[in-house]
Amino acid sequence: MTWPELPIVQAPMAGGPSTPELAAAVSTAGGLGFLAAGYKTVAAMRADIARTRELTDRPFGTNLFTPSHDDVDPAAVERYRTRLVPEAERLGTAPGDPSPSARDDDYDAKIADLLGDPPAFVSFTFGTPHADVVRALQERGVTVVVTVTNVDEALRASHESGADALCLQGFEAGGHRASFTNTLDDGLPVRGLLAAVRAAVPDRPLIAAGGLATRADVAELLELGAVAAQLGTAFVRCPESGANAVHKAALADPRFTATAVTRAFSGRPARGLVNRFLAEHDAHAPAAYPDVHHVTAPLRKAAVAAGDPDVPNLWAGTSWRHAADAPAAEVVRSLAG
Ligand SMILES: Cc1cc2nc3c(=O)[nH]c(=O)nc-3n(C[C@H](O)[C@H](O)[C@H](O)COP(=O)(O)O)c2cc1C
Repeated sequence: MTWPELPIVQAPMAGGPSTPELAAAVSTAGGLGFLAAGYKTVAAMRADIARTRELTDRPFGTNLFTPSHDDVDPAAVERYRTRLVPEAERLGTAPGDPSPSARDDDYDAKIADLLGDPPAFVSFTFGTPHADVVRALQERGVTVVVTVTNVDEALRASHESGADALCLQGFEAGGHRASFTNTLDDGLPVRGLLAAVRAAVPDRPLIAAGGLATRADVAELLELGAVAAQLGTAFVRCPESGANAVHKAALADPRFTATAVTRAFSGRPARGLVNRFLAEHDAHAPAAYPDVHHVTAPLRKAAVAAGDPDVPNLWAGTSWRHAADAPAAEVVRSLAG
């Protein structure tokens, strides 16, 4: 495994923020940039890889969502959809239909395509890949990373799947919880998670993620035994990030004072700034991913188009206030090197 020069990983961020420009800027600066294949077609994933290769000759990675196996209650999804009708009408749209055909995010086709011509790193979230998939990627020279949120997942990812490295996601993290199941547990803070996984899986490089925002945070996690720190929210406001303007502005808006973990936007627990939609609908959202993601998509899109931060998902980790509108290379240098 060839590790980049600096111990900084720019988290894959599906839904817009991860762009070839962001990944390339981070990798060129000596960190490890990641593309995010989640929600994208195979062709779009491949185009991102090709474009990133034009922008940098340093290693970078891409990230896949492992397929969801939620035991969805369609009646609960329908009740949630109905609840959102007035909200949608106010925005001049309608709730989307849950579309079960999109349930697996084209996982198999993405794996097949990546095996043809993979980037240096491939990481997985929401579950651990089959050992055959990991072996096939490794035979193509790929370093395989699996994101985990507890010791049991760490053991499965390393012993059953054979991952080369683990990304440990603490409960402070912005965006979706990477848990293998759709559970709303309290989760472990990143420092505790690192200590627990180091003891249980001493033979794998561990990347620490969740609420890390400063040079001191990074140095502390390295001191505790991590090989690198993975940061997401810290890169959302960068000019190279493709996050929408409402999301970027909200991260700097003093009216937002807290983050919370919610299923309100996608049906899977994710941490974001507490806005009106989160506060009003959180308690009613079923554990149904990606069904709820599809139901809320038109509302989120209309709200972003209208510049309204009260409705869209504003993913943010607990240290969001540190996120700066600065070039990605500068963010990398401010954290390490
Ligand atoms: C906007 C956003 C989108 C994210 N999308 C993904 C993703 O597609 N795949 C993934 O593995 N992690 C994703 N994450 C989680 C990150 O990998 C990482 O765990 C998290 O950003 C770390 O916490 P921090 O945001 O406090 O730095 C996302 C995070 C954010 C903020």
